[in-house]
Amino acid sequence: MSRPVIILNLKSYKEVFGEEGLKVLSIIEEVADKFPQVIFAVAPNITCLSEFVKSRRKVRIYSQHADPFPMGAYTGHIPLEAIKLLGADGTLINHSERPVSIKTVSSIVEQARHLAIEVIACGGDIKEISKIASLKPNYVAFEPPELIGTGISVSKARPEELKASVAIIVEQSESRSIPICGAGISSGEDVKLALEYGARGVLIASAFVKARNKKEKLTEFALAAESAVY
Ligand code: G3P
Repeated sequence: MSRPVIILNLKSYKEVFGEEGLKVLSIIEEVADKFPQVIFAVAPNITCLSEFVKSRRKVRIYSQHADPFPMGAYTGHIPLEAIKLLGADGTLINHSERPVSIKTVSSIVEQARHLAIEVIACGGDIKEISKIASLKPNYVAFEPPELIGTGISVSKARPEELKASVAIIVEQSESRSIPICGAGISSGEDVKLALEYGARGVLIASAFVKARNKKEKLTEFALAAESAVY
C-alpha cells in the first residue's frame, strides 16, 4: 500500500509568494520531518516553482499546470520539459481552475512518462474521472468544483461519489493510478474520512493557506493521514 500523500496547492494566493512562500515551504519541510510515513507535496504558483525547487529538502514539488508543447516557438506556454529541467517532480493538470481538454491531459501524461516525471490529473465528476483514469496518470484527483474553497469537504459531503471515484480510478487505470481527492478539506477528520473511503491522499488549498497557524493545521492533517497507515 502506498504511503498517503498530502498535496498543498498554493494556487495564486497572495500569502504564498516571495519570502512568505519560502517560509511556508520550510513549515512543510518541518512537519514532513516528523511524519516519515506520509508523503508531502506542494504546488506553488508557477512563478515560484524554481525557488521552491532550489529550497526544498524532501517535499515533492509540482507545477500547477503544464502545456502540451515542446520547447520552441510557443509564447507564454509552460513546456513539461522546462518543468523537468527545473528539477520539479511533475505537474498538476486539468484543475477546475485551469481546465484543459482530455486530449491535452493525454498528451501531458504521455510526455511525462518519457520525461520520467509525475502527473496529478484532476476531474470534477465521475464521468471525467473515468476518462482521465483510463490515461493512467500517476494520481487521479476527484475534486468537485462546487466544493472548492467552501470548507465543506468532499469526504463529508460526497462520500458515495468519493467511493465511486476510487473504484473507477482503480478499474479504469488497471490499478496504475493512485486515487486521491480534494475540495473543502479543512480538518483532520476530513482527511481521515477521505482515506477511509479509499483515497490514498488529499489535495488541500484554502484551509492550509488561510490557517492562522499553518504548522498546527498541517500537523492536524498529517496526524490523520499517519493514522491511516497500516
Ligand atoms: O487543488 C486543491 C483545491 O482545489 C482544493 O481547494 O481550498 O477547497 O482546499 P480548497
